[in-house]
Amino acid sequence: MCGIVGYLGGRNAYPILIKGLQRLEYRGYDSAGVALINDNGNLVIYKTKGKVEDLIRVSRDQDVSGTVGIAHTRWATHGEPSDVNSHPHFSENQNLALIHNGIIENYQSLKTELSRKGYHFRSDTDTEVVIQLIQYLMDSQGISLEEAVPMALQHVVGAYALAILDKNHPERMIAARKGSPLVVGIGENEFFVGSDASPIIEYTNKVVYIGEEQIVFLEKGKEMRITDLRSVEQTAEIRELEMSLSQIEKGGYPHFMLKEIFEQPQTLLASMQGRLHPELGVVKLSGFIDNRKRLLSAKRIVICACGTSWHAGLIGKYLIEELAHIPVEVEYSSEFRYRKPVLFPTDIVVAISQSGETADTLAAIQLAREAGAFLFGICNVVGSSIARATDTGCYTHIGPEIGVASTKAFTAQVATLSLIALSFAEQLNTISESRRQELVSELQRIPEKIAKILGHDEKIRDLAKTFTYARNCLYLGRGYNYPVALEGALKLKEISYIHAEGYPAAEMKHGPIALIDEEMPVVVIAPKRGNYEKILSNIQEIKARKGRIVSIVTEGDTDVAKLSDWSFEIPDTEDCFEPILSIIPLQLLAYHIAIAKGRNVDQPRNLAKSVTVE
Ligand code: M6R
Repeated sequence: MCGIVGYLGGRNAYPILIKGLQRLEYRGYDSAGVALINDNGNLVIYKTKGKVEDLIRVSRDQDVSGTVGIAHTRWATHGEPSDVNSHPHFSENQNLALIHNGIIENYQSLKTELSRKGYHFRSDTDTEVVIQLIQYLMDSQGISLEEAVPMALQHVVGAYALAILDKNHPERMIAARKGSPLVVGIGENEFFVGSDASPIIEYTNKVVYIGEEQIVFLEKGKEMRITDLRSVEQTAEIRELEMSLSQIEKGGYPHFMLKEIFEQPQTLLASMQGRLHPELGVVKLSGFIDNRKRLLSAKRIVICACGTSWHAGLIGKYLIEELAHIPVEVEYSSEFRYRKPVLFPTDIVVAISQSGETADTLAAIQLAREAGAFLFGICNVVGSSIARATDTGCYTHIGPEIGVASTKAFTAQVATLSLIALSFAEQLNTISESRRQELVSELQRIPEKIAKILGHDEKIRDLAKTFTYARNCLYLGRGYNYPVALEGALKLKEISYIHAEGYPAAEMKHGPIALIDEEMPVVVIAPKRGNYEKILSNIQEIKARKGRIVSIVTEGDTDVAKLSDWSFEIPDTEDCFEPILSIIPLQLLAYHIAIAKGRNVDQPRNLAKSVTVE
């Protein structure tokens, strides 16, 4: 939701912090700020509504010296985006400064209590109470910052990743986490703090992922120290980053989203590498093999996810039910966590999340854990909260996804679910060996088929110009392509702000058909296999009402193409792998329409990449 970054060492902190904020801007971008203890020993804060570039403008003629600092890029939750609500926040005496990602749920009662004691609040944020509470504990109990932080955090209800500076101790920084991610990078006599490793990778590949309810004490010239909230010492597990700098840069593309769409032939290969063995006709997933007995005894699978990951989960249901004959339910994590779902210890709960930090999905798996279910995670971000909170799982291994609109994560999630379905099918003997061999070989061919579709980018760009007028758009698909219709519509609405709905094509006549007229673009995903004849009839129904049809068809199919105003071909493949191909033109279509409308595709309004608040 927000991005936090910190530096403590021998270099000038400001440029490191600014670059770090630019790397984290995908997490939120409605305001930005920085706090430094400058060379004169002053604790200074520069902050503003707007993006990191606005912060650079605001701090241009200011003293940005100093070798210790913290910085923040915000996605507003409490209090509108404004200069005063931007982070960092000072404590009452302005000796302490704090940045925060998360939500303090009991902020109102803490604020009322602290206001009564004479503390003044400048902002409408929930965050400011934390730094005021820390100062209050220091003042009233005569204790140090090191003692006050754990004490304060025991009073706080909610989620946080935070970092604090103390004007009186410019050689120190304290950071803590509960529910929101926090990484510390260890350099030569220097420390870096980040919401993820992207602001750190340029300087060091040695990192520590801070655990739940842990506080980290950093001091120049000393080893880092970690405790829990009760001040019990914890061990720091130093890990090596696998990420590279080029993965978090645009590499010549105008936007991260376009780069990530075009990366899909490689990312798909990466997510299947070492797992898919076409020569043997088998799949080897270590997370599956190591827990084989437990997984195979499952009576039911429940998939929990949000947004694009939920759409991938729906395809996972179709795959697992068809290939492995295990009943699967797909749940929105946000609904699942608050209703009273019936769960059994024999269930497997699969959490799908690119970021591995989505608050609702994390809460859903906590609920499933209490019910005794076995937890399987499909995450992209290594070391993320969901990856750590599950019993086992698979990483998608696609490198950082930075564009807010998820693209390469979706195709990798579907590929991973295909591998899981094939693993179950092999072990449970639900499909023949020859059929499995066919599917495994076909899956291996998917990356080159994606590359072929990407070759039609220009055609899609030209069509996109035609659709900038549209205010509404319908996406229709059947079977495996119904979730693709949902995902195509989500892509369009989130980056172009055109209202779009995805529907199972046959549901159209139960309501949405009323919307169709000569103004209405209808995108129909109609490959040759599956319910081809049925979808042909649906297209006829749209045609009869003068809808403007854009179709996704199998190479060489002229029947649907003839009925359509525009059509895009995708290579033929097995029904169950069609979504990985049919989504590609829809990602490109959404991207080009958004560009033609002048939208900021990497940072669409009101959104953030990682939804760490509910
Ligand atoms: O990190 P996650 O996969 O858990 O995120 C889930 C959704 O927030 C995410 O897919 C969101 O819907 C994207 N903006 C879709 O493009």
